[in-house]
Amino acid sequence: MTDTSLHFPDGFLWGASTAAHQIEGNNVNSDWWRKEHDPAAKIPEPSLDACDSYHRWEQDMDLLAGLGFTDYRFSVEWARVEPVAGTFSRAEIAHYRRMVDGALSRGLRPLVTLHHFTLPQWFEDRGGWTADGAVDLFARYVENCAPIIAGGVRHVCTINEPNMIAVMAGAAKAGDHGFPPAGLPTPDEDTTHAVIAAHHAAVKAVRAINPGIQVGWSIANQVYQALPGAEDVTAAYRYPREDVFIEAARGDDYIGVQSYTRTKIGPDGPIPAPQDAERTLTQWEYYPPAVGHALRHTADVIGRGMPLIVTEVGIATSDDTRRVDYYTGSLAAVAAAIDDGLNIQGYLAWSALDNYEWGSYKPTFGLIAVDPVTFERTPKPSAVWLGNLGRVRELPRTTT
Ligand code: GAL
Repeated sequence: MTDTSLHFPDGFLWGASTAAHQIEGNNVNSDWWRKEHDPAAKIPEPSLDACDSYHRWEQDMDLLAGLGFTDYRFSVEWARVEPVAGTFSRAEIAHYRRMVDGALSRGLRPLVTLHHFTLPQWFEDRGGWTADGAVDLFARYVENCAPIIAGGVRHVCTINEPNMIAVMAGAAKAGDHGFPPAGLPTPDEDTTHAVIAAHHAAVKAVRAINPGIQVGWSIANQVYQALPGAEDVTAAYRYPREDVFIEAARGDDYIGVQSYTRTKIGPDGPIPAPQDAERTLTQWEYYPPAVGHALRHTADVIGRGMPLIVTEVGIATSDDTRRVDYYTGSLAAVAAAIDDGLNIQGYLAWSALDNYEWGSYKPTFGLIAVDPVTFERTPKPSAVWLGNLGRVRELPRTTT
């Protein structure tokens, strides 16, 4: 039952998120592009043209602004900006600067991610994050992004989901036994240290570009819920997969919180969701309040003063009514957390578009549908509904 709604706190970010590789298309110099075309990697389908947003970004922004959103999170593609080690493309830097200006001119505040999973092939070839000099190379790339972010950009996210980067590295080392039936693989410790160092170097570089930028990073939160008696097991399980990355955000200007579902933990570790649980197209349990738990946990770890921004939250479904249900439950959890005094400064839905979900186009997270042949965009009813909340500047609040 919907109760009186909550007015957005001042300056609240209201938007949708994307990532370059998932929507631009033809990201041919990236590690992912190569992997997608390597039969040994067993990736179900390649990204190819994706949503062709490299050419259609203006249309994407027109739609988002027209729907009522005031913020847009997108990423800069390192593999385009620095296609060869040490060689920076002026044209690509100008391209992303045009995107920043284009967002601003439409009334969309850009939240710019500098690294969202994909690496330049040359960086991967020299050993990726754990190779000597990797941190300095990332910092050099960030410094070269100065023309993109120096003016008009209020929020920068250095690295998206560093904890998933470490988890994926751990899974790769473990080979085919990498992914357990529930929970996440053990993160690779060297990768954890390297991405934390890269983040700290990037924060410094961003502040040197413009100290007015709010800089942070976004952590994937699995909402680990302890069964009675399994509190210690849960805390120990969660620490290397989440908390160490949240702690590394101390001193940042904000922290990005990303959450989709939950994972229950018993005395022996993670437990799969019951057979009869509702699941989304990614097979994750349908659990709308996830982000509320994620926000509370993040604040518990880092302290209540740290500004929190939901930089991703959403559902993969072909049933758009269920998407509205999911966001309704999710927003009620956010409103309740604001009521409880958490410093929540924004909510960005994942995702603006039906996009390339790291191996497949099947899990549709988008507020806007994209025709894979013509690239025609069609906002779904959920996009109209969510965008409109931005116009009225109110969050739904639910009582039980
Ligand atoms: C996040 C990731 C996004 C998107 C989303 C839904 O982990 O940052 O790129 O794929 O999950 O799967």
